[in-house]
Amino acid sequence: SPAPVKVAVTGAAGQICYSLLFRIASGELLGPDQPVELRLLEITPALKALEGVVMELDDCAYSTLAGVEIGDDPNKVFEGINLALLVGARPRSKGMERSDLLQANGAIFSAQGKALNDHAADDVKVLITGNPANTNALIASSNAPDIPGNRFNALTRLDHNRAKAQLAAKAGVTVDDVTNVTIWGNHSATQYPDVFHAKINGAPAAEVINDQKWIESEFLPTVQQRGAAIIEARGASSAASAANATLEAARTWLTDTPEGDWVSMAVPTDGSYGIAEGVISSFPVTVSGGEYAIVEGLEIDDFSQAKIDASVAELRDEAEAVKSLGLI
Ligand code: NAI
Repeated sequence: SPAPVKVAVTGAAGQICYSLLFRIASGELLGPDQPVELRLLEITPALKALEGVVMELDDCAYSTLAGVEIGDDPNKVFEGINLALLVGARPRSKGMERSDLLQANGAIFSAQGKALNDHAADDVKVLITGNPANTNALIASSNAPDIPGNRFNALTRLDHNRAKAQLAAKAGVTVDDVTNVTIWGNHSATQYPDVFHAKINGAPAAEVINDQKWIESEFLPTVQQRGAAIIEARGASSAASAANATLEAARTWLTDTPEGDWVSMAVPTDGSYGIAEGVISSFPVTVSGGEYAIVEGLEIDDFSQAKIDASVAELRDEAEAVKSLGLI
């Protein structure tokens, strides 16, 4: 069988990883014929809990799992890795200021960016799930000058999937009937889930739904605030669905998007849609042979443009804040 692909995952003892690691190890990321080696990073106090997770991985006896290494030093864990899924981050604790949160995550993602720069394989791709995901991705990328910027992206696939599920439910169709959904901007409550280019069974979704009031006053806030609604209901933040989105996003990035469809990925801005360089923002993207490209030439009306601009403005504020903290 082929040489194992080395996949690093951070925050490996956390709740997202309790779902994610098992799905990667079982072959869902790379397929049943491709062995995978897991490199799991945690902070020192969580290593014992992580040993328990590794015992459970062993006990699954997955034929695709070629090996597992764990550690608390990114310079060792990231040695020779082909894919990094940066899930671990510092959550906002009670009374923590936003600048404290950016500072704490800045320290994590600048150290991990440097470690990736110095130790990862030449083909490494880095997907950031840990929040604030877009800005953490910007910090990691800025600290990895030898890795092309387009190898860093942040997860908005969960928002994309949420939008798809809401549209399918409203239209009374299956999720597979809904295509070309887009999340623009930040993975935050300012994100803009765009239905105006989405399709339902190939027809414009907004026309099929034919209910502008629902789109503006139900659909948008439901998708934007879904994370908070799950915390409210479950008493913990989304984990299995976040793991699912992380897995799907990585798998898409390594392969292709289906003909005629696209996915949402937060990628470095390059002037597309008038959004200047300097932040990592979500766009509609296609992937072909493992290379992504922003979908160009979509018509954006004033309603959509205002929403996109607001979310990008929030990203620029976050970027300014981390710049003033000396993190990028
Ligand atoms: P969790 O708190 O259960 O697990 C996070 C783990 O990261 C902990 O075990 C912690 O010890 C570890 N960690 C902290 N600093 C680390 C470091 N420097 N290196 C390695 N590991 C480190 O959190 P959960 O629920 O697994 O969520 C993880 C992150 O994903 C959070 O930031 C959360 O906000 C974010 N998230 C993002 C979503 C998205 O769509 N982009 C969706 C849901 C969650």
